[in-house]
Parts: sequence; C-alpha cells; structure tokens
Amino acid sequence: MKKCITIALALTLTLALFGCTKSSTPSAQPAAPPAEKISDSAGESTLVGISLPTKSLQRWNQDGEYLEKELGGMGYSVDLQFAENKTELQVSQIDNMITKGAKVLIISPIDVSTLTNVLETAKQQDVCVISYDRLIVNSDAVDYYATFDNTIIGQIIGKYVVDQLNLENNAGPFNMEIVSGPNSDATRVLFDAAVGEVQPYIDNGQLVIRSGQTDMEQTATPNWEEKEAQSRMDNILTAYYSDAHLDAVLCLNDSTSLGSQSALKAAGYGTQDNPMPILTGQDCDIANVKAIIAGDQSMSVFKDTKILAAAVAKMTDQILKGETVTVNDTESYDNFSKIVPSYLIESLFVDQSNWQELLVDGGYYTLDELQ
Ligand code: BGC
Repeated sequence: MKKCITIALALTLTLALFGCTKSSTPSAQPAAPPAEKISDSAGESTLVGISLPTKSLQRWNQDGEYLEKELGGMGYSVDLQFAENKTELQVSQIDNMITKGAKVLIISPIDVSTLTNVLETAKQQDVCVISYDRLIVNSDAVDYYATFDNTIIGQIIGKYVVDQLNLENNAGPFNMEIVSGPNSDATRVLFDAAVGEVQPYIDNGQLVIRSGQTDMEQTATPNWEEKEAQSRMDNILTAYYSDAHLDAVLCLNDSTSLGSQSALKAAGYGTQDNPMPILTGQDCDIANVKAIIAGDQSMSVFKDTKILAAAVAKMTDQILKGETVTVNDTESYDNFSKIVPSYLIESLFVDQSNWQELLVDGGYYTLDELQ
C-alpha cells in the first residue's frame, strides 16, 4: 500500500481522536538539521522530484532554490525541473522523475487539470505527491497541498483597495478594473476572495468598472504573463478611459501588475496631474518592490517562499520517514477527487509604509537589491 496514504489515514485518526481540525495560527516548523545521505534499500540516495512551472518569474526560481537547499541539507537527492509554462513538458518531466525512482513529487502545476494520467502512474508506483502553491485537481493521487492561504491573500488585496479609496466614508464613484490570473481552478480561490471584498462597492455603484469586464474569464491573464496583462490594459485604457481617470486596478499578482504599469505609463499615467491608480500585486518580486518604492505600484503581498519551502521539505521528510505529516487544514481544499490535507501559511501586505521593515530589516532582501 502506498506509504503516504497510510500516513494520511493515521493523521485523520489522530485528528478524529483529538477533535483537532485547523490550527488558527499556522506557522512553519524549522527544517530538520542536515542529515547524512538518506538512502533507499538499494543504497541509492532517496530521490525527490520537484516540478515547477517556469523560470521566467522570480518567485519560482526562489522556490526551486530553497526547496533544493532544504532537501539537500536533509540528505535527499533532488531532481528540479522547470517546464517553461508548457503543460506537455511538465507531464514528461514528471514522468521522467517517476522513471528515475523519485519517492516524493513536489509539483506546482501549470494547468491544474492535466496531470491526472501521469499522477495515476505515480500512484501505481507508490510515489507520494505534494501539490505546491497551486492545487492539482481531478486526481486522487494528490496526497498533500502546501500553499500560502489564498483566501487570506485575496482578502488582503481586495481590502487594500477598499481602504486606500476609503470606500467606507467616500462615496466616490471611483473607476476600477480587475486583472486576474489564468481562468482556472487554481485562480478561483484568490479571485473570489479579492473580488468578494470589493463586490459590495461595485453593487452599490461606488466602484465602476467601465470595461464591464468583471468575471474570471473576462479579466483573465493567460499564464500570468506580463505582456498579456499589458496588452489587455492597453485595450481597456484606449477603449474606456480616453475621457476618464482609472482610480484603481485590482491586480492579483506582480507580473500582471508590471504589465498593467507599462500600459498605464504609456497612456500618460504617473505624473502629478495624472497619478497612477491604486495598483495591487502579489509576490514582492524585486522589480515590484522597486515600483512600490518609486510610487508606481501601491502594494504587494509578501509570501516568504523560504517558509513554504522549509515547510514542504519537512513534510517530505515526514512522509519518507513514515511520521505524521504536519498539516493545519483538512477541510477547505477539495480537488474534485478528494479533500486534500493542506498546510497553509499566512502572508502580509507590503507597501511604502513597511517595505523596509518587513523586507530589508527582516532579511529577505538587501537594500542594495532594491536600489
Ligand atoms: C502564485 C503566485 C504567482 C503566480 C504566477 C500563482 O500560483 O500563487 O505567487 O505570482 O502563480 O506565477
């Protein structure tokens, strides 16, 4: 029987016995101290496969680097692959990891619904699967999910717009547009949480979306591509804002925020007479923190990828040692095949008021990197 299924059952039993469901203050455990090389029965170092979507975004490079470092420090061999945002390439890379004998797969899917077959192979070969950051759907082979809490991130982003426009006291109306990620199940939780915060003000007319583009499909950015976000914003500005000021862009991550900024600048925003709108983001990529400092982007969400990587490395180690795996949510994430036991990490917003304290004094970036 698959090793990590046994552990998941043990976990369920533990939770049932102690009536414990979700820890209210999830926190990552420190990674285990460096160990000797951990080997399987044939004396080979135990292999962990890591499949990430693309090298083109700063965050995935960091995730890969930190995961590799943590797992290497624990004595595991690591096969780290990036799939250039190409679904077929990701499938073949994962297939290859299984062939090479990986015992655990840590996967952040490009398309959350196209890994069903390859994960069936993983399951047949007793390989455990941790869905990383994005939840793989339509597969009962997904054993665990580890992510930043996307509901909280969405709420932070949406609330920021509400607070900055002071919508509780200022009737407006203000013009706003929404820039989302791919129209997929992986974006749904984030989108719903962010839009949920502004929806009452759209409904009562304080926020006006002149483009009329409000749902996930209409506001989508394929693959979170900066250029896609830029050309959509170009079109929106030309078609709907030649005689009106855009006051806010509810943007769901940093790459799409950069694309939106380029379009806004090209349309003449960013001057004293024509200030940039309130513009949100997520990830605190260096280019975006620089934009926050310069006043081109209002905020971003700080997701400390070191903490996520350390937590996932620990989960991997627990799986491979047959220990109870640390999770703090056993209810929220239904991947349409099962409820996936999850480990959720909280995040914080960064803006001009706190970037130095959180990112520099906290040791995430040096001041030089941000200049
Ligand atoms: C991640 C974001 C990231 C986006 C684009 C999402 O799954 O949660 O942090 O900006 O993918 O890569």
